[in-house]
Amino acid sequence: MQGSANLNLMIKAARKAGRSLVKDFREVENLQVSSKGPGDFVTRADREAERIIKQELMTGRPTYGWLGEETGETEGADPTRRWIVDPLDGTTNFLHGLPHWAVSIALEHKGEIVSGVIFDAAKDEIYWAEKGTGAWLNESRLRVSGRRAMSDAVFATGIPFAGRGALPATLQDLARLMPACAGVRRWGAAALDLAYVAAGRFEGYWERGIQPWDMAAGIILVREAGGFVSAIREGDDPVQNGSIIAANSALFEDFRKVIRGE
Ligand code: IPD
Repeated sequence: MQGSANLNLMIKAARKAGRSLVKDFREVENLQVSSKGPGDFVTRADREAERIIKQELMTGRPTYGWLGEETGETEGADPTRRWIVDPLDGTTNFLHGLPHWAVSIALEHKGEIVSGVIFDAAKDEIYWAEKGTGAWLNESRLRVSGRRAMSDAVFATGIPFAGRGALPATLQDLARLMPACAGVRRWGAAALDLAYVAAGRFEGYWERGIQPWDMAAGIILVREAGGFVSAIREGDDPVQNGSIIAANSALFEDFRKVIRGE
């Protein structure tokens, strides 16, 4: 499958940052036993990954805007296009030596996500999608799962931590959803939760209080794999609203009803 020049640039940047993070991750695994832990080291690894991505993308497309988790927002000379980047999604997993984290890069055009790349460097899995050309994992085409019954479905979520405000609503979501489905997973990397919906591994995913860089690339992956994505509140855009619900086409409405408490 041949991608566009932009997609190839995104893949190159994601792989380069991923290589740097894999090297740092080996060190983090060793640092678990030290009394100070790997906190500062991980902060540096995260910033270095964003520096690598920014250099690749902004050298290749100097007029585009930028929104990155570590370096914030910069408007570009071309106000219609911006990169949305999380250099290390799943930071807590990385910090604890858990091999479930990813680089996430999206391109937005006129307010719509048009391409996305998510690189799970520890497992060497690269997910990518462009509007109208499907979603892919390495060289294989992705489709959302075909399960049609809530009772067979496994869903993923993020549970707010460290006093984040969305915790009570998420606990209510769980109380409604858990009796109706086959299981809920909290694996700690939103980009991979969405990639797994695209890959048919999870039937759906939702999260409240989430940032644009955590979800941007995953949104186009799910849509191009045949799934649906929206904000939890009717009519809102997930990237603007900070909540997201995504699922295969068969279960999207039932799942959304449960999460909205309808
Ligand atoms: C976090 C992860 C986590 C999600 C949080 C995010 P980070 O991103 O994606 O799964 O529940 O909402 O903030 O901080 O590791 O980039």
